[in-house]
Formats: sequence, C-alpha cells, structure tokens
Amino acid sequence: MSTTIYYFSATGNSLKVAKNLSEQVEECRIVRISRDNLSITQDLQSEKIGFIFPIYNFGIPSMVKKFVENLQLKKNTYVFAIATYGGMVGSPFNEIKRALKKKDVNLSAAFTINMPGSDVLLMAPASEEEKIKCFKEEKEQVLKISSIINTRQPCEYKSNAPMDALYKVMYNVSFNPQNMGKNFWTDVKCNGCGICSQVCPANNITMKNGKPNWGH
Ligand SMILES: Cc1cc2nc3c(=O)[nH]c(=O)nc-3n(C[C@H](O)[C@H](O)[C@H](O)COP(=O)(O)O)c2cc1C
Repeated sequence: MSTTIYYFSATGNSLKVAKNLSEQVEECRIVRISRDNLSITQDLQSEKIGFIFPIYNFGIPSMVKKFVENLQLKKNTYVFAIATYGGMVGSPFNEIKRALKKKDVNLSAAFTINMPGSDVLLMAPASEEEKIKCFKEEKEQVLKISSIINTRQPCEYKSNAPMDALYKVMYNVSFNPQNMGKNFWTDVKCNGCGICSQVCPANNITMKNGKPNWGH
C-alpha cells in the first residue's frame, strides 16, 4: 500500500518530520514541493497521500495551497496533513479541506507539530535546550501519527469557527510573501555557505559576491 508525502520546507523542520514519518510508514516516498515541481498535477497511484508544511502567518504557504489545488488524486485516497509551527498554529487545514472537497476527496486526518520557530522577523532563534525538547516530542508524535496513518484511521483536527475566521483575516492581511524579501539581509556573521540558496523552495535566493541576495 503505497504512500507519498509531499513536503514543503524552507528551514528543514517539515523535511525532518517528513523523513522521520517516512521511516515509520510502509512503502513511503517523500517528494519536495518547490517552484521546480509545481508541474506535478496528478497522483493516481498512491493509496495514501500526505502534505507536510510550515504554518505561515496562521495559514498555509501559498505554494502549498497551489500544489494541493492542482493535484488530481483518486477519490478514495486517504489524505492526511501535518502542519509544523513555531508558536501559534492558527487555521491551517480549512484551505486544504476546501481544495480537496472540489475534487470530492476528504482530508482524513490532520495534525500539528511544534518545532523551532523559523520566522526570524518575529521570533528569536530557539535555544539548544528548546530544540532538543522539540525534536524529542516530534519523534514521539511522529510515532503516534504513523500508527494512525498505517491503519488509515480518521483523525479530525478540532478547530474553532470564530477563531478560524479571525485567523483567516490575519492571514489575508499579513501574508504577502512577494513583499517580504526587502526585510532580509545579512551581515558579517553570514559565512556565505550558500545552503539557503540551495534549499529555498521558491528559488528566491541567489548568491552575489559570496553573500545571499533575496528576490521579491
Ligand atoms: C514567513 C513565516 C511565517 C510564520 N508564521 C508562523 C505563524 O503564524 N505561527 C507559527 O506558529 N509559526 C510561524 N512560523 C514558523 C514556522 O511555521 C515553523 O518554524 C516551521 O516549523 C518551519 O518549517 P520549515 O523549517 O519546514 O520551513 C512562520 C515562519 C515563517 C518563515
């Protein structure tokens, strides 16, 4: 029974969850969502499909939304989603539910996993102790999630309608990725390793004179 996990990850948290989960789920492959493969528009082979992504401004990254909307899948596919977050989950699953509903497919199970915060404009980097605690809890959660997925159990994410409406407004007002690049810069602490430009899922970081340069 094959499973495909489509993951979107900028700083590696969601990739870590995808890798750990894939080790616990039978016949599982992981596929990166990035600007290079938004052309994947069909998955009629996988019996189970998962989406793993970070929370951005209380909602889902726009590229993930586009990817789910474009993906054609079988009606009886068991679909699950996992959102990784740094402090406040918001309302990540309604967009996915809506996109799937248009294809007559249900979101069977949804989970959230607390990881170190990656939003450097809002959050201080996690301390080593905080990271160790997060990663330990993440492993335990992944084990529980894998047993649910392996047996195709439903697992509804409990949300609160008035709060969802508020989060939607906050998301619409604050999530403007096209305007965020101007807030990013580096100083002498950047060693110019270039990893950020290699892993950026939006292909939005180029190295200039050995330093990263953010696009729009
Ligand atoms: C632009 C941006 C917005 C974010 N917004 C939120 C948020 O609203 N709530 C939250 O808990 N974490 C937020 N985060 C933190 C990430 O969701 C979290 O660190 C996630 O695990 C990062 O995943 P990744 O390493 O796979 O990219 C945000 C991060 C970024 C970069």
